[in-house]
Formats: sequence, structure tokens, C-alpha cells
Amino acid sequence: MAILPIRQYPDHVLKKNAVPVEHIDLEVEKLIEDMGETMCAAKGVGLAAPQTGTSRRIIIIGMSGQEKPEQFIELINPQIIMAEGEELAEEGCLSVADYKAKVRRALKIKVSYHDKQAIQREMEAEGIIARILQHEIDHLNGLLFFERLSRIKRDLIKRRLIKRAKHNNSAS
Ligand code: NI
Repeated sequence: MAILPIRQYPDHVLKKNAVPVEHIDLEVEKLIEDMGETMCAAKGVGLAAPQTGTSRRIIIIGMSGQEKPEQFIELINPQIIMAEGEELAEEGCLSVADYKAKVRRALKIKVSYHDKQAIQREMEAEGIIARILQHEIDHLNGLLFFERLSRIKRDLIKRRLIKRAKHNNSAS
């Protein structure tokens, strides 16, 4: 297992539409293990494969509050098949360090996905778990949380992040 570097906006891999997983092979299994270790090390509650540089449709969500913090659920090729209600709450992202914003999301969702044994499953979620799932599935479609804000807020955050990325590059 390995802790992978987490890609930061405006890295191009974060803007791509990720590719569906056709076969769950050793490479996919290893990626999921590494994503788990990476999320745990970063103290995240969710992670999408593109954030670790691999443009494939895999997300994991943490089981926070449980005894073993390293436990997580993997969802392969996840798809939202039902969404209802609405909720505005604060979000951040491991790929957008130090920024948080209130994002409007569905309150309740149902997701279909494949597990590691390639079995088709469904998950219903509400509140914070539904929010994490929507945030991570957005990553598979090349969307970051601040892109769901009003245009003014979105452009302001983008400008600051790009400025910061340039500054960091010239400093290293
Ligand atoms: Ni994120």
C-alpha cells in the first residue's frame, strides 16, 4: 500500500470526465487500497480516484465515527439514480486546500454502483453521507465543489487558487 500525492486544483486530471471501470483487476484493487490509505492519512471523509491522478470512476467514503478510522466503502462506477430535497451546507475538498464554501446539494439520494466483487449494489443516503457521495461523484465528472457556487463566488475562488498555484510554482 502507498500514500499517493493528492492532486491540487488546477491540475488537469481534476477537470476530466473519468473513465468507467470495466474489469476489477489487481490494478483496480491496489488503487482502492492506496486511496483508502491516502484518505486516512489526509483525514478526509471521501476521495475520488482522479484526486490521486487516475482518471477512473472510483470513489471511497470514510466510515467516520467507527472504531477503525481506516475503514471505508468503495463505490465503482457510481451513479445517482434518485435525488430529493435540498440542503445548504459547508464543504471543503482535499484538492482545494484551505477553502470552504456553502454548497447546495440534494438532501437524500440513491446511488447504484459496483462493489469490489463486481456485484451491483444500491445505497441510500441522507445528510452528510449523501453530501459526500455527491461531492465525490462530481469529481468523476470533472467538477469541483466551488464550481457549483454562483458565478461571482466561483470566479473569485478560481482566481485566488490560480494565483496561489503560480506563486507556489515560482517559489519551488
Ligand atoms: Ni473533493
